Amino acid sequence: MKLFHRGCFTCCEILMVSIFLFACNTTQTDSDTIEKRINSILSEMSLEEKIGQTAQRGTSSRVKNGITDEIKEAVRQGKIGSFLNVMNKEDVDELQRIAIEESPHGIPLIFGRDVIHGFKTIFPIPLGLAATWNPLIVEQGSRISAVEASTYGIRWTFAPMLDIARDPRWGRIAESPGEDPYLASVMARAYIKGFQGDDLSSSTSIAACAKHFAAYGAAEGGRDYNTVIMSEQELRDVYLAPFQAAEEAGAATYMTSFNEINGVPSSGNGFLLKTVLRNEWGFDGFVVSDWNSVTEMIAHGYCTDEKDAARRAASAGLDMEMMSTSYEKYLKDLIDEGKFSVAQLDEMVRNILRVKFRLGLFDKPYMEHSHDEDMLSEQHLKAAKEGAIQSLVLLKNKDNVLPLSKSSNKIAVIGPLADAPHEQLGTWTFDGEAKDTQTPVSALRQYLGNEKVTFVPGMEFSRQTARNGFTEAIVAAKKADVVLFFGGEEAILSGEAHSRANINLPGAQEDLIMELAKTGKPVVLVIMAGRPLTLGNIINNADAILMAWHPGTMGGPAITDVLFGEASPGGRLPVTWPKSVGQIPIYYNHKNTGRPANEESFVQMDDIPVGAWQSSLGNTSHYLDLGFTPQFPFGYGLTYTSFDYKNIRLSKDSLAPGDSIEITAEITNTGNRAGTEIVQLYIRDLVGDITRPVRELKGFQRLLLQPGEKKMVNFILYPENLAFHNQAMERVTEPGKFKVWIGRNAMEGLESEFELVK
Ligand code: BGC
Repeated sequence: MKLFHRGCFTCCEILMVSIFLFACNTTQTDSDTIEKRINSILSEMSLEEKIGQTAQRGTSSRVKNGITDEIKEAVRQGKIGSFLNVMNKEDVDELQRIAIEESPHGIPLIFGRDVIHGFKTIFPIPLGLAATWNPLIVEQGSRISAVEASTYGIRWTFAPMLDIARDPRWGRIAESPGEDPYLASVMARAYIKGFQGDDLSSSTSIAACAKHFAAYGAAEGGRDYNTVIMSEQELRDVYLAPFQAAEEAGAATYMTSFNEINGVPSSGNGFLLKTVLRNEWGFDGFVVSDWNSVTEMIAHGYCTDEKDAARRAASAGLDMEMMSTSYEKYLKDLIDEGKFSVAQLDEMVRNILRVKFRLGLFDKPYMEHSHDEDMLSEQHLKAAKEGAIQSLVLLKNKDNVLPLSKSSNKIAVIGPLADAPHEQLGTWTFDGEAKDTQTPVSALRQYLGNEKVTFVPGMEFSRQTARNGFTEAIVAAKKADVVLFFGGEEAILSGEAHSRANINLPGAQEDLIMELAKTGKPVVLVIMAGRPLTLGNIINNADAILMAWHPGTMGGPAITDVLFGEASPGGRLPVTWPKSVGQIPIYYNHKNTGRPANEESFVQMDDIPVGAWQSSLGNTSHYLDLGFTPQFPFGYGLTYTSFDYKNIRLSKDSLAPGDSIEITAEITNTGNRAGTEIVQLYIRDLVGDITRPVRELKGFQRLLLQPGEKKMVNFILYPENLAFHNQAMERVTEPGKFKVWIGRNAMEGLESEFELVK
């Protein structure tokens, strides 16, 4: 495990780094003892038992009592090392007891589960958590998830998902930390710290699993499971960055991805699993496949049959197989035939046992119940509410229609997601329950009193096309002072295998919103969705738009607080928001091209004369019908106040090796409410051996400012923060000029420059 920091240091990060150092409490002596114990067990294990450690069995997420006598017998014989989705405490205890007391060497089982953004207390979906730009919220959320999940004997979560996602059609963007490698890396460290705690062997710590390794988010056309073709430079600088941050933060395990990269599926990819993860980064935990991803290499056209898949995956460095059973069936034959070696198998088992030791499973294999009462505790719900508040991104607020006044007399609450507890939990929430969830309708009634809130959904679910509920909704709108429309996507429309070619508001929602706008009443649109949605004309017809992602258990109270100004909308976009799907992929840190788009060269399609002579001169990289700017840029989000940015200053003009440069600016709250600004630092490396993006995020800070208050922000950049991979695939810092911005999003900011010198 190395401590090798690749981003600019902010206060938050310095805190995270110090927490990390504290967390690394496995001493050399502990490690030596663990290695000795592993060697001694390995020397006694039979080949079958060793293979057993590499096998993970499970049930689908919904089956609760699936443990047959056959499975118990397999555990007794040491033929299974891990389970996923065993969600009955008695089953967990019984299986573990069989493993400890009756299997040949008493090796504990490790129980895994997708605890992605909460267990019983559900936090916003990961994309929403990324929108908080607040690693402390993420750390707290994952700590709470670990405390709750471990009461079920789960000591391993298949999270965090660290796939950079630049295509909102991809359903799994909901699970991702967004489009930016720096922000994703900050989030990666926070997740790992929260799940694994200060001491992985504590009974409330759960091993993290950085997934999906790698580049899964770059699936062609946003179609899930699809092909990825990518340069090694982009892979390393963009897609692998958060995974490396996870390794530095001590992630105990990794999961391979379903996709192939440049023709080689991840589960058989020795470059990723050996060259990068083990040899370059020094990872010594274990790697698990994704669900059946080993045998899916046959469908990819990479392996002839299951035996070939087992050989390819094991040789590439994949230690544990999830669900499919090619290791169990064929590793022994492969060893007998000399196509795989016992030494290689020993290495896989060693990696798995190491994590089991680090979790303390050999010494304390059974679940402890000391923290059972923490489930959905007041403190957990409070944290989930704060997480949701900070994830809310205010996209539009015409004439400061928000915040609403508590004295508003009549509120019409309309829309399919106003009272849809299951939907607001979002994707990957197997254990969160609708009955524990507080919806906007219930929270608004509690806050304002029943008599002020008229709830007429207008539509029963987000995809509904029938318009028979419209009339009643319009009548309610006409009688109200303000209309709150809760729309978006049901939870099932994002997440795994739920990509969409059109990412507009589904069903008849747009029509209903247009009808409501015609009433002349102010319309506030609250969107719950797993991705940015293309809103088209709705943008002009809604007075305010609040992006709530899928906000989790406490979404209702969080949204209510923000709508009524008890709290400020805290989020900023972790992904660029497109105007239309035709613009995708669209992301802020793109390359400049030889003919970069600009206002001067952009000509609207309708302004081109009919019969115009064919000419490209003076034209640039844009769409005739959509231009080149997104609907909302990365980093964007409004508050209930205004901030003024002034006086960007650099501590020096040039940055030398071993030196650092300080960049400061003055930020003033010029409005009349307190507010938190997320001040962002971007750079641009003007010339590179491999061309550099037009902007790159290198730091951010949250500043809480009272009305009229002014504060200085400061960022420190080191040459290391400017490094990238060159054509020779060396990570280098190249001398040359850099632009630097301090601003409120990726399209704005005070600009200055400096030079990196040799
Ligand atoms: C998903 C993983 C998940 C696994 C186990 C797979 O289908 O891709 O993200 O962890 O199932 O549920």
